[in-house]
Amino acid sequence: MKRNSKQNGSGRGLITALDVGSTKIACFIARMAASGEPEIVGIGHQLAAGMRSGNIVDLEAVESSIRTAVEAAEQMAGENVKDVAACISGASPSSKLISFDVSIAGHEIGDADLRPALDPAWLKTRVEEDQQIIHTIPVAFSIDGNRGVRDPRGMFAEKLGVNMVVMSAASGPLRNLETAVSRCHLAVADHVIASYASGLACLVDDETDLGATCIDMGGGTTTVSVFFDGEIVHAESIPVGGGHVTNDIARGLSTPVAFAERMKTLYGSCVASPSDDTESISVPLVGEDENEAAHVPRSMLVGIIRPRVEEILELVRERLETTGFDKVAGRRVVLTGGASQLTGIRELAAEMLDKNVRIGRPTGFKGLAEATNGPAFSAAAGLIKFIINSQSETAHAALRAMEVPTSRFGRFGMWIRENM
Ligand SMILES: Nc1ncnc2c1ncn2[C@@H]1O[C@H](COP(=O)(O)OP(=O)(O)OP(=O)(O)O)[C@@H](O)[C@H]1O
Ligand SMILES: [Mg+2]
Repeated sequence: MKRNSKQNGSGRGLITALDVGSTKIACFIARMAASGEPEIVGIGHQLAAGMRSGNIVDLEAVESSIRTAVEAAEQMAGENVKDVAACISGASPSSKLISFDVSIAGHEIGDADLRPALDPAWLKTRVEEDQQIIHTIPVAFSIDGNRGVRDPRGMFAEKLGVNMVVMSAASGPLRNLETAVSRCHLAVADHVIASYASGLACLVDDETDLGATCIDMGGGTTTVSVFFDGEIVHAESIPVGGGHVTNDIARGLSTPVAFAERMKTLYGSCVASPSDDTESISVPLVGEDENEAAHVPRSMLVGIIRPRVEEILELVRERLETTGFDKVAGRRVVLTGGASQLTGIRELAAEMLDKNVRIGRPTGFKGLAEATNGPAFSAAAGLIKFIINSQSETAHAALRAMEVPTSRFGRFGMWIRENM
């Protein structure tokens, strides 16, 4: 279907989010409600075909799933959209802390002194060749070695230091995502790292300020983001998720994958309970008729699920420890994503990561029905928040004109948008 570009929803204050996940594709269309809260006016979701571990492996299948999800959201919203903010959970996201020194030689620091730190050509030299820069977030300034400077502009110094978190993702998967989206006559207006989006949707301000980790356990990936001082400081994506748990059950019990999935959600758990040995579940066997079902104790199911979930959490723990972000992240973990609904996972994560764990779901949205405000929709909802946050920085422009001090990095964030 050729879209009518005159009816571009994005031009009417609408924001469209597209989360292309390993097991489902979700499209949310939002508009700002009079209350100031974003209101979701269109929702479409569709089983994802052609995805593996957060990356596109069959372009045509993904294109068709995207089209179905977006059209359902458009129909509900009664609007046609032209561009989307998109994320995929794979694409090997990488984050780096980069520092840049600028010689000031005693003059007053101005915008022109900050510009070299954000020069795309220079930044490109600091990431791997096959990576594309997605987010550049200034996290700290120093002048003449004194750290903790809020906004260096207008100050005098010999040397200015800028510390930035630069987040990138593999160019190949990003281009494939753009291609799949453009084949649906849509454009990707913004790329967002999936784990960043999930964190934005689920974490409350106190968590992002004091330090917290958001773990989004999806179908084919587990993405991790660490927030501190109000901003994301680290992102990871591990190519294992709830789909691997399902496959383990299917293999372990010789049952069809669809039944394994059903067993997991209905009876599965990653913590043992005293009744597990006495409860028995009937399991149809692959290739045999239904009367030939085997009967297995629930403890056997728990025995298959737990080691895989332990493996995933162990990988997360290891990554956080090796990168050193374990300390920055403090003791708070918010677990989200479809697989966070597995019974007992909160307790297991708390034990293995030695942190306080809560289950996170999108908060602060109007119009999200029961079926779509669950943890599986965190990334889609977070994409909307990302766009709202970046738009609200234009409000800082008005405040700045009136010389009202704004938040620490809000002014600098806006400066980036104006000057890049
Ligand atoms: N009630 C439940 N109990 C346990 N697991 C569940 C439940 N509901 C959904 N899941 C699991 O959640 C996973 C899908 O999660 P989600 O929709 O977040 O993935 P995705 O975003 O498509 O994939 P990814 O983010 O990995 O690319 C599946 O493995 C599914 O089995
Ligand atoms: Mg996901």
